[in-house]
Amino acid sequence: MKATLVTDGVYRLSANVDNILFEGMWPVPNGVAMNSYIVKGEKCAIIDGVCAWDGVPETLLAQLDELDIDVNDIDYVIINHMEPDHSGWLDAFAKVRKDFTIYTSERAKPLLEAFYRITDNIQLVKSGDTLDLGNGRVLAFEEIPNVHWPETMATYDTKSKTLFPCDAFGSFGSVADDAPYDDTLQEEHIEFFEREMERYYANIVTAFSQATQKAIEKTKALDVKIIAPGHGIVWRRHPDRVIRSYTRLASYAKGPARAEVAVIWGSMYGMTEMGVEPVIDAIESQGVKTRVHRIPESGISYVLDSVLQCSGVAIGMPTYEYKMFPPMAAVLDEIGKKKIMNRKAFRFGSFGWSGGAQKELTELDERLKMKWDYLEPVEFKGRPTDEDIALLRKRGVELAKAVKIWALGDVS
Ligand SMILES: Cc1cc2nc3c(=O)[nH]c(=O)nc-3n(C[C@H](O)[C@H](O)[C@H](O)COP(=O)(O)O)c2cc1C
Ligand SMILES: [Fe+2]
Ligand SMILES: [Fe+2]
Repeated sequence: MKATLVTDGVYRLSANVDNILFEGMWPVPNGVAMNSYIVKGEKCAIIDGVCAWDGVPETLLAQLDELDIDVNDIDYVIINHMEPDHSGWLDAFAKVRKDFTIYTSERAKPLLEAFYRITDNIQLVKSGDTLDLGNGRVLAFEEIPNVHWPETMATYDTKSKTLFPCDAFGSFGSVADDAPYDDTLQEEHIEFFEREMERYYANIVTAFSQATQKAIEKTKALDVKIIAPGHGIVWRRHPDRVIRSYTRLASYAKGPARAEVAVIWGSMYGMTEMGVEPVIDAIESQGVKTRVHRIPESGISYVLDSVLQCSGVAIGMPTYEYKMFPPMAAVLDEIGKKKIMNRKAFRFGSFGWSGGAQKELTELDERLKMKWDYLEPVEFKGRPTDEDIALLRKRGVELAKAVKIWALGDVS
């Protein structure tokens, strides 16, 4: 990776990482970029760091060399967010640079001690505080708690009007050396990052959508010319574009989302499976697109993405040991914990003797306060009869109609 100039006096350093599960669980087949920024006045600050994974801190230090910046020239380390994907390199940095001051929020302090045993030279800042780097460059701090941990803040360079919001406005996806900016990328590549942004948002940020909405409002109140996040590309030409994307994604958490239906299904011996195609067919007959996931084959990361994007969800699963089919229980539990609420929903599935999946589903919705609006379920003993199939089709149509009315307004 190469260091690049964002704007006069601001440089982007970055490391792409793949072959990992992000946060130990989210696949990143297209990689993920960890961005760090150097801001120069008379004094020099580094904003956000990188993870401590193999070779990454070294990559960052090599990029400083490229810029002819001696680590000893870095006076200030600004920590917007303590999650180790941005702070992990501190151990490596502290080994080569003995004397620097950390600027961070009050709630980051105990984490600095807990993670890195750092207790000294910490300057605590809150919203409205500033740091004058000299040469007319003043950094302003704004707390944006819970995007994505409680201690998170954003830093704003008042000279270049660049916002460094860390996890907010970020995305998955490795960033090419020669094109880390929206103004140096082809439209199709920008769209690639927007798709990567959707799954990143669904996996990492969605539980904090309310906090994200507040952070978006704070961003809109600033005169922002450039958005330079901790992951993904830098938005120089159209910062408004990424603000719009995030506004949309944050609103999807409570719904409505797109006029589409996520169909999530699992089946042991093919009985429930016999109902899947009729349901999909009926939904699509109403001009509503589906995003289909068989579980557990389809990973939870991708299911979360689809459920966040879709206003409707169709769930197909059998009863298993008096309860829900376990992989479905796990997926729905995570969807509920991510606070994806208010979906138009429908559940169908097979059972052998007394059933039980439906009861547990109702309990889960209540326990996690999901407030999903379910149609009457369709359950069948063993394989579905012709009448069951007809009923499944009917429910598919009802679900599609409900989704269209909610997502698009009254379109009947
Ligand atoms: C491990 C296992 C546990 C089951 N537990 C129940 C149960 O508690 N109650 C019930 O009514 N049926 C139970 N069944 C029966 C299935 O729900 C039934 O065979 C159903 O048709 C399976 O649908 P599928 O082929 O879509 O998986 C169980 C089946 C298996 C294999
Ligand atoms: Fe984070
Ligand atoms: Fe992050």
